[in-house]
Amino acid sequence: MVLPVVKGILQVGGWAGLCDTNVINDQAGWHSYSPDTGLVFKELTSRTMARRTDWIDEQLDELERHGRLRHLQTRESPPVAGRVQLNGQSLINFGSNDYLGLAADERLVDAVKHYSGQLGWGSGASGLVSGRGTLHRRLEQELADFYRTEAALLFPTGFAANVGVVTSLVGRGDTVFSDQLNHASMIDGCRLSGATICVYRHNDMDHLSDLLESSPASGRRLIVTDALFSMDGDLALLKPIAQLADQHQAMFVVDEAHATGVLGADGRGASQQANIESDVDLRVGTLSKAFGSMGGYVAGSRQLIQWIYNRSRSYMFSTAQPEAISAASLVALEVIRSEPERRNRLLERAGQLRQKLQGIGLDVGNSSAQIIPIVLGDNQLAVSASQQLRDRGLFVPAIRPPAVPNRLARLRISLSSEHTEEHLDQLCESLSMLKQPG
Ligand SMILES: Cc1ncc(COP(=O)(O)O)c(C=O)c1O
Repeated sequence: MVLPVVKGILQVGGWAGLCDTNVINDQAGWHSYSPDTGLVFKELTSRTMARRTDWIDEQLDELERHGRLRHLQTRESPPVAGRVQLNGQSLINFGSNDYLGLAADERLVDAVKHYSGQLGWGSGASGLVSGRGTLHRRLEQELADFYRTEAALLFPTGFAANVGVVTSLVGRGDTVFSDQLNHASMIDGCRLSGATICVYRHNDMDHLSDLLESSPASGRRLIVTDALFSMDGDLALLKPIAQLADQHQAMFVVDEAHATGVLGADGRGASQQANIESDVDLRVGTLSKAFGSMGGYVAGSRQLIQWIYNRSRSYMFSTAQPEAISAASLVALEVIRSEPERRNRLLERAGQLRQKLQGIGLDVGNSSAQIIPIVLGDNQLAVSASQQLRDRGLFVPAIRPPAVPNRLARLRISLSSEHTEEHLDQLCESLSMLKQPG
């Protein structure tokens, strides 16, 4: 059997080059060969190759033994009215970051249809080369206006934005101070930057102050924190952090991923709520949560934004998002501005749910917005609780390490403005009936 031509790297002896290759199967197994040279050059599925990856089976078994093995599931419905169809099951959805119910909003969908019809789909290159279009520019301008900053820059994802921002601002010889519970993208940005990383205990201002005090006077300093912590639902102590940043001449970056559109009188996030916007150098955000869309961004001074697009490898070397996606985000931004009732309803529901949960004896930690954890500790316990809820028609994901520290596995309830009081009652009733795994 001969499969279609594929592009591949052909390596014969010491020579390597890009060429068209066919993939063939004869009695000896799978091989690829070059129609140009007629050379058969590699067995694709040899026993040696299988042996080379045997360690993965062992590692997967290990993950399973510790209750840390994940399985991909397929969502078969749009996320509408707080519900979702997962692996054939219709469930009330407490596992989405579509906080304002915009992911399936017709206005966003229509914008995507309209602009992809006009402009096509792919953007074809990095924003720095030729991928940045007029809608990208408009969204950047609107985001800058929204945050009352001079400029903003779009990234393909929020993850890329965090990595790009941190690695642009600090490097070898510098120091970055990072809250222990910051998001993985912030952590990876710190690691990639090559700067000395000082992780301070979660929201522990004395610890942060000590670390700043004892850090070398030479080199740049940067403090990075999530605004609303993604797995605990509590808020960063932005005011004291801003004061420490000022006192120690440290740059200050806040990741507003879960807070934009939700917190602050105008939805500008936790920095607006804490009244420290002018103390923050850069606000990072994502378009994938309250915006119901896809992509990341950073907002700040013109100088900082220019520096970032000149230095950030996750900006430079990654293709810009399709412009039609920016069109959807422009609509979402307008909704965030003009329909405050969505975030008000969401926060009201979150308050109601916290009260109900506490009423049935559950500890919701320091959650103070739309993310509510129920820490169970053991991985298997969290998985079993999530499965029992699922059997009752509710999707509440079990969150395990590495998303949370060891022995702090939990159910993570994530609310949307589209949840009804009946949804909350059903959740509380089911939670009160959870059984320990037997
Ligand atoms: C705090 C935080 N920052 C950044 C991101 C990354 O955003 P995105 O999903 O757009 O890559 C996430 C996503 O889960 C997040 O929770």
